[in-house]
Amino acid sequence: MAGEIGEFQHIRIEREDGITWLILNRPEKRNATHPPLHFEMQRAITALETDPDTGVLILTGAGDSFCAGQDLKEYFRALDADPVGRARARKASHDWTWERLWLFPRPTIAMVNGYCFGNAFTPLVACDFAIAAEDAVFGLSEINWGIFPGGLVSRVVADVLSYRDALYYILTGRPFDGRKAAELRLVTCAVPRAELRAETVKLARELLGKNPYALRAAKEAYKLCRLMDYAQAYNYLAAKSAELRGADPEHGREQGIRQFIDEKRYRPGFESYQRG
Ligand code: COA
Repeated sequence: MAGEIGEFQHIRIEREDGITWLILNRPEKRNATHPPLHFEMQRAITALETDPDTGVLILTGAGDSFCAGQDLKEYFRALDADPVGRARARKASHDWTWERLWLFPRPTIAMVNGYCFGNAFTPLVACDFAIAAEDAVFGLSEINWGIFPGGLVSRVVADVLSYRDALYYILTGRPFDGRKAAELRLVTCAVPRAELRAETVKLARELLGKNPYALRAAKEAYKLCRLMDYAQAYNYLAAKSAELRGADPEHGREQGIRQFIDEKRYRPGFESYQRG
């Protein structure tokens, strides 16, 4: 399986026509994340960042669970007396669930096929898109076992949920389904379970038809400028535009303008220019 990326025990990588499926693979534990899984995910995502065959990355879980959050036994209790092991696992977890995924150089989609609890909210929010099965089950369940959403969870939840909704789910720990997650705008959309894979692949294929250099610059520009003040954002976006024009080997901007203005081949309001 994906020989050049490496061999893995707790995750799976599957590839088809530019789409890379990164699959948490501990279905018997509902894909709860333990330290060996974190180390494998960190290694896999690092390798995929520069993988020429990855045009879109889809994160999902094996079986009927997306991810049941951190492993209470092996990530929490087993490391209570091992501060070095805890620090290593914590770093790997943060690295892949947020740092590498948030600015992964290609578009990312979380396909939420079932349970999504606790720390799973971090990679969920890190992904550019999230498509959930209508009957997927979400929850900030930490309060139910005596802690609060740590790691980066409280922070990423503040990015996507309203103040009222965030506090409601953080303090009650009540579960909610995929339909509700879409209503809360925690996910991009929710679809019937039978259509989940097809809808996710459809979005991935649409993205594969667009200029990958522009896509990368677009997500970096949006995600980074949100954290800036107006003057910083205005200057950064100008510099980023210049960077894209210099870095784009397919000269998308020039092609796009020519195909519309001179050749009248398409309308940018409705579709992408024809690449190649
Ligand atoms: N940590 C450790 N083990 C977990 C786990 C987690 N977060 N989530 C599930 N598991 C394990 C269970 O201990 C069980 O292991 P076992 O078969 O060795 O006994 C196995 O996965 C199946 O779990 P089970 O509860 O029997 O399955 P279920 O389908 O009835 O329920 C959940 C699934 C996800 C609702 C339930 O397991 C659960 O509430 N998990 C905890 C979710 C959570 O609070 N996560 C936040 C962590 S930050």
